Amino acid sequence: MATSFATFERLKDKGVSAFKAGDYPTAKSYLIQAADCMIEMAEATPDESRRRHHEQLATELIDLAKDCDRLSGSPGKRRAPLREADDGGADASDWLVREKPTIGFDDIAGLDDVKAEIRLKMIYPLSHADLAQRYGIHSGGGVLLYGPPGTGKTMMAKAIAHEVDAAFFVISPAQVLSKWVGEAEQNIRKLFDAAKAEPMSVIFIDEVEALVPKRQSDSSSVMQRVVPQILQELEGFDRTADRCLLFIGATNKPWMLDEAMMRPGRLDARIFVPLPDAPARYRLLEMYLAKRPLADDVDLGQLCDRLAGYSGADIKNIANRAAARPFTEAVNGAEPRSIAMADVEAVIAETPPSVLLKDLARYDAFAQTGL
Ligand SMILES: Nc1ncnc2c1ncn2[C@@H]1O[C@H](COP(=O)(O)OP(=O)(O)OP(=O)(O)O)[C@@H](O)[C@H]1O
Ligand SMILES: [Mg+2]
Repeated sequence: MATSFATFERLKDKGVSAFKAGDYPTAKSYLIQAADCMIEMAEATPDESRRRHHEQLATELIDLAKDCDRLSGSPGKRRAPLREADDGGADASDWLVREKPTIGFDDIAGLDDVKAEIRLKMIYPLSHADLAQRYGIHSGGGVLLYGPPGTGKTMMAKAIAHEVDAAFFVISPAQVLSKWVGEAEQNIRKLFDAAKAEPMSVIFIDEVEALVPKRQSDSSSVMQRVVPQILQELEGFDRTADRCLLFIGATNKPWMLDEAMMRPGRLDARIFVPLPDAPARYRLLEMYLAKRPLADDVDLGQLCDRLAGYSGADIKNIANRAAARPFTEAVNGAEPRSIAMADVEAVIAETPPSVLLKDLARYDAFAQTGL
């Protein structure tokens, strides 16, 4: 073989160190050499799945090299060099997204069962600590929110952090794959360390199936190491201590998740986030449509029936587009008018629900079999 793995590692490490130091031109040069090296190794590998690993890794390195261009090309945006991680992980703030979400349960239409389950598992043990202790109920733990797209899973994760007033850490799989090359393990460690340093934290991984997929041979080598470590950190968290860590994963493809993720102590509570039922659709219409000027003929009850099968995101989108009709007319010089039933109906007629029936069947199957 023309290139050895050691050469590759050396180039990659130099690239990653230069990237951390903010020296993007040097980083780019090493990263591209490392990617070339990987591509050469991929071409020399007869084994199909190994070849795909190599190619995946090369792609990650090229993505990182592209970031170098972007960062060095815009001096105003040049980011501060990353500090080294020898201070116990405090510098994780360089890449950790830490938010204080402002939306609460009241901002989410419907999903009463989901809210009740979350209150029981995550909120009451904290708000009623004495009772929880008496009954031996531990706070925290892991929850998987799964369900069709646009039903409020991401909103729900933020609302939970808001309801318990927690520090909210978001891990984006895309960021892990493009920026954590060679240091995914350290970053996971730092993330959990930062979360443990707070009295109360929520770690949220959106689209968790991208980061913790079934351990198929074709997942990238970064992920093959990341998955077991996330599981280990989750399990290792002491739930009896006076700190609380909630771990929330959200996915619309739960069947793609590694089953090991579901074992006790990990994402052991699975909560289905369904399409909105009639009362929830009514509430969504109130939230997104009825706050705008409506003509007298707009009948929310009737629209609510027409919108069976539509997601929350669909309904919001329909309301926006219905409002755009009189708005556009007015911009073009017409007398401003209210949104009429005909506007909403016209938009519904040209907008099928985004979630297909066959997809819904897939969630049922998952709920029953876990596959
Ligand atoms: N139950 C709901 N109540 C209020 N708004 C909602 C609800 N469901 C969806 N929406 C609206 O749709 C948008 C998309 O919702 P969200 O991102 O939470 O969906 P999701 O379930 O995470 O979807 P995906 O699986 O595609 O990530 C929200 O920003 C919100 O405006
Ligand atoms: Mg989402």
